[in-house]
Amino acid sequence: MHNQLHQTILLEESIQSLNIKKNGIYIDCTFGYGGHSHKILDKLGKKGKLYAIDQDPCSVKIAKKIVDCRFTIIHENFSNIDTICKTYNIKKKIDGIIVDLGVSTMQLMSKHRGFSFNVNGPLDMRMNPQKGISATEWIKKSNTKTIYNVLKYFGEEKFAKKIALSITKQKSIKPITTTQELAQIIYKNTTQKKQSKNPATKSFQAIRIFINQELHAITMFLKKILKILNNKSRISIISFHSLEDRIIKNFMNQYSKKPIIPTGIPISEKKIHKMYKKKLKIFNKIKPQYQEIQKNPKSRSAILRTAEFQK
Ligand SMILES: C[S@@+](CC[C@H](N)C(=O)[O-])C[C@H]1O[C@@H](n2cnc3c(N)ncnc32)[C@H](O)[C@@H]1O
Repeated sequence: MHNQLHQTILLEESIQSLNIKKNGIYIDCTFGYGGHSHKILDKLGKKGKLYAIDQDPCSVKIAKKIVDCRFTIIHENFSNIDTICKTYNIKKKIDGIIVDLGVSTMQLMSKHRGFSFNVNGPLDMRMNPQKGISATEWIKKSNTKTIYNVLKYFGEEKFAKKIALSITKQKSIKPITTTQELAQIIYKNTTQKKQSKNPATKSFQAIRIFINQELHAITMFLKKILKILNNKSRISIISFHSLEDRIIKNFMNQYSKKPIIPTGIPISEKKIHKMYKKKLKIFNKIKPQYQEIQKNPKSRSAILRTAEFQK
């Protein structure tokens, strides 16, 4: 989908990677503004089915406007993919899953959500404001060490220590409640040789990942999917930073390689291969082309990884 609210990244490539069957059952785990969902619906026949998930009530509201008996929207976290499949009776019937991680432009641009250093508003950052605590509340109750750890490990922020110390100092004077207050603290504590990225990018990303437990959600999701896919079904995941991509890459590699078994182990060859059955066939990773990056600079860090499930 190409509009101001969200420009879907790697749209053609990701849809192609799913190899959509006309009457298949598909899941869009990250509905967002519906870019992938609309494209999948275009490709499905009358008997096809699409289940879309999003934890953001605003996305769910948009999805509810789609009147199509082949389409179902589910307000959930995709880490609960196993219970979702049980509820809808689609376990082991799914032909493909798409996951487009991160935040939508709609979330970033919203004044009330607090995701962006470019838009002043309350510092919240929850994708699902009905669950968990806001970034303001988290900062309020955290000490320097905790804040440092989040900035360092989820943002790989070089100035994590300086920023964390400054946040603690500032909040002892007055609570940090807006995106601009946080951004100003970061600006004062970072120096950048070349301004290719805003200095607050890494810290905002780190806090968002932490607040939404994003790495935990993708890890839980991956742990569960091998039990719900159908033979030959495809899973395509678009990620936007190395922490996420590493989790996805390691998972796909783990299930796509046969183990090297030392000779002389007292188990039959057949049993070993049954134990370690190769479950995924992986395809080459795809990155946006030059033209897409020119049109949409946000796409520059995207990586699409696809695997096919083998029973
Ligand atoms: C990058 S956007 C998806 C955009 C969508 N593909 C499109 O073309 O419009 C990511 C969406 O996934 C949702 N999301 C992120 N993590 C989620 C999770 N663990 N469970 C459910 N939804 C999630 C966010 O709320 C956001 O709406």
